[in-house]
This record gives sequence, C-alpha cells and structure tokens, in this order.
Amino acid sequence: RPEQTFYDAVGGAETFRRLVSHFYREVAADEILRPLYPEQDLGPAERRLRMFLEQYWGGPHTYSTERGHPRLRMRHVPFRITPIERDAWLRCMHVAVDAIDRDTLDDQARKRLIGYFEMAAASLVNSPF
Ligand code: HEM
Repeated sequence: RPEQTFYDAVGGAETFRRLVSHFYREVAADEILRPLYPEQDLGPAERRLRMFLEQYWGGPHTYSTERGHPRLRMRHVPFRITPIERDAWLRCMHVAVDAIDRDTLDDQARKRLIGYFEMAAASLVNSPF
C-alpha cells in the first residue's frame, strides 16, 4: 500500500513502545544524561518521547492533543545540550534501534530512523561546550 505510513510499516505502537523503552533503559544508566532528567520517575518522559515519535512517523496525534505544538528546540532550552549530551543521547538511541529485530526494522528503515535522530539531535544542541 503506497499510502502506508512509516509508523505502520515498522509495526506501529508496539515497535515505538519497545524502541523508547530500550532508549530510557540506557538513559537511566547514563551518567551524562541521567542528571538532566528532573523527575525521579523516567516514565512520564518516556511517554512523551514515545507519543512524539509516533506522531512524527505518521501514527496517532496524541502528543499534540496533550502537549500542543512540539517546539522541540524551545522545550530543550532548559537543558544544557553540548555535543557531549548530543552524542550520549545518540548512543542510547543507537542501542535502542539495534535492539529491534531485523524482521521488524529492515536496513532501510533503520537508516531512516538513525538519519532522522542524527539530524534532530544536532538541531537541539544549544551550547558549544
Ligand atoms: C524532553 C534531553 C534530544 C524529543 C527532554 C527532556 C530532556 C531532554 C532532559 C525533559 C524530559 C521530559 O520531562 O520529557 C535531551 C537531550 C538531547 C535530546 C540531552 C540530545 C540532543 C531529543 C531528540 C528528540 C527529543 C533528538 C526527538 C527526536 C523530546 C521530546 C521531549 C523531550 C518529545 C518532551 C517534550 C515535552 O512535551 O515536554 N529531552 N533531548 N529530544 N525530548 Fe529531548
């Protein structure tokens, strides 16, 4: 089906749930990133990233219903994001993408996801050092 979204093509909600769950497991153990998350419980942050990614890739628009326009650059201003934090974030996301099996995420889908994450993470760097 040519009109199928990327979200549907890679397995929908279940795939994004697994991806973001793996990602936050890495964040929880990362000494650069963990101190940035103000809440003790990473669950709410996990849910926000999951809803955002589902919406971005053509799934349900729950993120904007609950949070409004994403405005990611603005929402990251409270956090000092240097190339160190960017690289730590991308490392966690690479681990998460690698944890998804090949049947769910083929090479092309993997490249699309990673390419997007690299672009998005670079755009959120807000401090040179
Ligand atoms: C929120 C850090 C990159 C999407 C947050 C929060 C932190 C953070 C500390 C607050 C946690 C919360 O309460 O939700 C970082 C760092 C990054 C990064 C250090 C490194 C570059 C990204 C990227 C994306 C993203 C690349 C998207 C692809 C989000 C979203 C939220 C969020 C959707 C929740 C916004 C809201 O609705 O309040 N990020 N982030 N972040 N981040 Fe990032």
